[in-house]
Amino acid sequence: MPLISRMYYLCALGFLIAGVLVGLHMSISHDHSAVGAHAHINLLGWVTMAIFGTYHALNPDGAARRLARVQFYTYTFGVVLMTPSLYLLVTGNPALEPIVAVASIIVFIGVLMFGLIVLRDGRKSRADIPRIRTDPVG
Ligand code: HEM
Ligand code: HEM
Repeated sequence: MPLISRMYYLCALGFLIAGVLVGLHMSISHDHSAVGAHAHINLLGWVTMAIFGTYHALNPDGAARRLARVQFYTYTFGVVLMTPSLYLLVTGNPALEPIVAVASIIVFIGVLMFGLIVLRDGRKSRADIPRIRTDPVG
């Protein structure tokens, strides 16, 4: 497994633990006000990071490129900044809204960079397909 996949899976696991803890806290306290944070910790953290990690494991050629590393740090930084501030925002700290907004834009940039990785890999796979000769032989 490429290093970047392992890094994504380790981060995803951290978010799964945090997301499940917030879910358990909501269930036990019967206070569901943190549902937005719970959903995004699990979906931007655990689910999307695991999908990114799996993508790189399936496309190991692109996984070693600089763009893959920059995308990992951008996306992960965005989610690490966004999720705790979103938790605090939805549990009664409206002052954190600008941080959530900036973090969301960083997450979005990470998503666009992932799009670029997928497009680049697609172009490379097409270039790797051997050309079929169409001119008459002999
Ligand atoms: C033991 C683990 C978990 C517990 C105890 C838990 C608990 C909860 C609770 C209490 C709610 C609020 C329901 C409501 O107010 O309508 C909720 C919502 C939600 N949970 Fe979890 N959860 C867990 C794991 C997960 C995981 C692993 C994911 C994603 C992979 C997830 C995704 C969601 C989503 C997307 C919502 C929002 C659903 C909606 O918009 O109605 N949860 N969860
Ligand atoms: C930077 C990226 C994102 C932003 C800024 C964002 C923003 C939002 C907002 C404003 C809401 C409404 C919250 C409310 O009504 O309380 C919401 C709800 C939701 N989003 Fe996102 N979202 C993002 C990414 C995603 C992704 C990638 C997923 C799934 C993979 C997702 C799944 C959900 C779900 C399931 C809900 C309903 C949760 C609930 O009941 O509060 N979001 N999102």
